[in-house]
Amino acid sequence: MIRRGVVLLLLLAVTHSAISAQSAQPVQPFRPTPLKSGIDFSGAEVRALQQDDFSSPAMLWVTRGEKLWNEPAGNSGKSCATCHKDARVSMKGVSAGYPKVDPDTAKLTNLEGRINQCRTQNQQAAPLRYESDELLALTAYVGLQSRGQPVNVVIDTQNRRNFERGRDIFYTRMGQINLACTHCHDRNFGRKLLNDTISQGHGNPYPAYRLEWQTMGSFHRRLRACFFGVRAELPPAGSQDLLDLELFLAWRSQGLKVETPGVRK
Ligand code: HEC
Ligand code: HEC
Repeated sequence: MIRRGVVLLLLLAVTHSAISAQSAQPVQPFRPTPLKSGIDFSGAEVRALQQDDFSSPAMLWVTRGEKLWNEPAGNSGKSCATCHKDARVSMKGVSAGYPKVDPDTAKLTNLEGRINQCRTQNQQAAPLRYESDELLALTAYVGLQSRGQPVNVVIDTQNRRNFERGRDIFYTRMGQINLACTHCHDRNFGRKLLNDTISQGHGNPYPAYRLEWQTMGSFHRRLRACFFGVRAELPPAGSQDLLDLELFLAWRSQGLKVETPGVRK
């Protein structure tokens, strides 16, 4: 099995070395067409789990997130609800616009980052760790309020540098396998790699429950898994590289519906 996977990867690499040799000029980013969610490439079992909130394991984190939303935390004694009231109203559509440049810090921030900003500044509580159940739960709960809404990020003068850096990462070969994201997710989606069908590589279901992890994971954890797959150095969750990549990927998936909390293989 492993040997077959390596051969496939090498095949992909060889097939595309011709492409990279021509592209000395900056690449023009493009969106895959037709735009398809990873769920469209998923098996029947995964689709059934994601579609049914009663059997979806991801909903456990949503339930927990709703509880946390209403619990006072930190020295402020305030809960998220103290300021934001009913999340179903105040958080509707919010996650579809992330990552974005935060008006308070003037930095590109994803949903996890914004939640932690509220934790530290507005609740005077310790920030939550990436992949902690608490941060996954709050992110899933806030994200759910955008489910079904189209991903909608705006590229402007404030975030253009981040966008360009994310785009460059997407098109740069990396790791011992020496493939770029684009080689799999633009040029080979729909094809089999080991037991997986390669999707277009969108972030619309995250945070998501992965059967392989047997738990919920952040978008950055999923991205790290792809860096690992090509044997590249892993950027830490929350790092600038992954934030910039997240922005580029959100732009690239513009219009796809948010599926949070998703289920994947
Ligand atoms: C003391 C009041 C206060 C508390 C407590 C608080 N926030 Fe906030 N939050 C704000 C303010 C002010 C903003 C920035 C203005 C805005 O976008 O509403 C904000 C912004 C946000 C945003 C971004 C909204 C957007 O439109 O981009 C999210 C998401 C968020 N908070 C989540 C949370 C969560 C989750 C908690 C609990 C862990 C929390 N907040 C606790 C005051 C608070
Ligand atoms: C060797 C091929 C390969 C490369 C290179 C690769 N990936 Fe992936 N990626 C996969 C496979 C296989 C999966 C799991 C099946 C799927 O959802 O596509 C995956 C999953 C994903 C997903 C999750 C999609 C979903 O719906 O859950 C995202 C996002 C993603 N990749 C982004 C990236 C990014 C960004 C890069 C570059 C840093 C990258 N990938 C590089 C093969 C690759």
